[in-house]
Amino acid sequence: MSSIGSVMISSPSQITVQIDSLEVFESNKSDLQVGKYIKIEDGNHNFAIAIVKNIAGKNDDDSWVFTIDATPIGALIANGSGFDFIKGTPVLPVPTEPVYIMDPSTLDILFSNDGAFNFNIGTLSNNVAVNFNLHGNRFFSKHIGIVGSTGSGKSCAVSRILQNVVGITPDGYALHGQQNNSHIVIFDLHSEYAAAFEIPGERNFTLNNLTVDALQLPYWLMNSEELESMFIESSESNSHNQMAIFKRAVIANKKKHNPLLLDATYDTPCYFSISEVVNYIDNIDREVIGRKEGEGKPKLVDGTLIENQDESYFEARLTFVVSSAAAATKATNGPFHGEFNRFISRLETRLSDDRLRFLLKPAKPDGERFGTNDFNLLLQQFIGYSNKSNVTIFDLSGVPFEVLSVTVSLLSRIIFDFSFHNSKLKHADGEENDVPILLVCEEAHNYVPASGSAMYRASRKSIERIAKEGRKYGLSLMVVSQRPSEVSPTIFSQCSNFIALRLTNKADQNYIKGLLPENTSSASEMLPSLGQGEALVVGDASIMPSLVQLPRPIPEPKSASVDVHSVWNESWNEPNFVNVIKRWRKERADG
Ligand SMILES: Nc1ncnc2c1ncn2[C@@H]1O[C@H](COP(=O)(O)OP(=O)(O)O)[C@@H](O)[C@H]1O
Ligand SMILES: [Mg+2]
Repeated sequence: MSSIGSVMISSPSQITVQIDSLEVFESNKSDLQVGKYIKIEDGNHNFAIAIVKNIAGKNDDDSWVFTIDATPIGALIANGSGFDFIKGTPVLPVPTEPVYIMDPSTLDILFSNDGAFNFNIGTLSNNVAVNFNLHGNRFFSKHIGIVGSTGSGKSCAVSRILQNVVGITPDGYALHGQQNNSHIVIFDLHSEYAAAFEIPGERNFTLNNLTVDALQLPYWLMNSEELESMFIESSESNSHNQMAIFKRAVIANKKKHNPLLLDATYDTPCYFSISEVVNYIDNIDREVIGRKEGEGKPKLVDGTLIENQDESYFEARLTFVVSSAAAATKATNGPFHGEFNRFISRLETRLSDDRLRFLLKPAKPDGERFGTNDFNLLLQQFIGYSNKSNVTIFDLSGVPFEVLSVTVSLLSRIIFDFSFHNSKLKHADGEENDVPILLVCEEAHNYVPASGSAMYRASRKSIERIAKEGRKYGLSLMVVSQRPSEVSPTIFSQCSNFIALRLTNKADQNYIKGLLPENTSSASEMLPSLGQGEALVVGDASIMPSLVQLPRPIPEPKSASVDVHSVWNESWNEPNFVNVIKRWRKERADG
């Protein structure tokens, strides 16, 4: 192969090349576009590899001069029989050294599916004959960021990657009957993903699809923070008192229902009755203390003195004596008289909200309530062990907005705690966690936002904890967002690999450029003009930063978008107003 030009200027961040002549430029035009690779000989049989950043032509006295600026990204080092690719700039060419276009055989060396680079996600977008493989372990053992504007192909990319993982190929479910040990949990905000795992026919795929109607998520699994964000309005002036009384009641009630758990705390995942807790607080709110000689305790209208509030206040709303200054009936209002009025009415409103049934009145198929011993069942359901599924989808589309954060927080924390405790048990036996889980956070800006709003404190905290510590316990994140600049920076700064699809928003482009390594700056200039399903893939799992064309998933996720113009051109459609309103009001099938 003959050279096309020679190095003029060389630095670790940029190499400038002059093309030999107009004829050479013309005949190699298609290989000299922005984003393509060039290789440069160093005189010792090694080559530097660089990505074309820009091309300039100048016409002086009727003769053309073409120069190319390229960013060095790695080197091919001769190893006797062939070449090894090494990232970075171990080889920096000097001026006059010859420059070549990247021939297919070199691309093959670089991207051949050898050993650890064994996870295919598509082809090079500049050269569709070359498969692009990721280092499977590096990719999935760390956190992954998938970003791109609406419609750029994020959901399709996620679906395709997950299909590869679980063995769904364009020909169907290849691993039917010989399921692998992959464990994926998806937070799906728009009911998109179930469609990507529905394989018709006999070789179907078992999916664990938890819609708001199938999901049973008992409130008593919540930790103190989640309970407080669910029930306590931190902006109210007496929120401190509310928290204190709520905590006292919850702990006492957990002890009451779980006598065998000796040290049940506010955070122990065991049953308590929220309605009994409301009774308790209501009694505290209305109690009257008998003040006659020898009393000094809450006193009921029938004269009974309450010896122990923790024993008496849960069962019912009690009727106390009326306060009185007369010696024969002396009694004074309790210390918290009237303090919790608003708190109680808020608790009652929550408890009667039918949309929150999945949290506040969860029930087993036989109608029984879940008890402490059912934690096992619940946990298995959350990670696909109830029906032996590789993929669990939490379809959050029906979860009311105001409890989305708490729901995400609770689920992700339980998955984290499971991974943590399972890892610790395994480590104690000198083994590794054998149930590593990938948690996919679709539309993450919705529940892990960068802004510090109190509303999302719970979910942000849980997911940030996974971002910081999850890897150690075999729990990795795939964070998907169309607004990366609005996602908590803690999350993206912990991602080791990025799949960046088309990004049109300037703030998001800049944000992503800031996260990517220096030598990808030329490639990231391409972000606004990428095609559908075309992505810049960067990180320690890819042999070098590359523009990759992802194939479409088969089947596809159900896209959230509507082809408005086509639908408008149909003949007049009648919506079913009755059903729409029914759904709107969340009427139940039986009601
Ligand atoms: N790899 C791909 N190749 C071709 N077209 C694609 C590809 N990925 C997505 N598309 C098209 O783009 C549309 C939007 O994709 P989607 O994944 O829903 O985008 P996003 O989640 O980023 O909003 C899809 O309906 C599909 O038609
Ligand atoms: Mg999407």
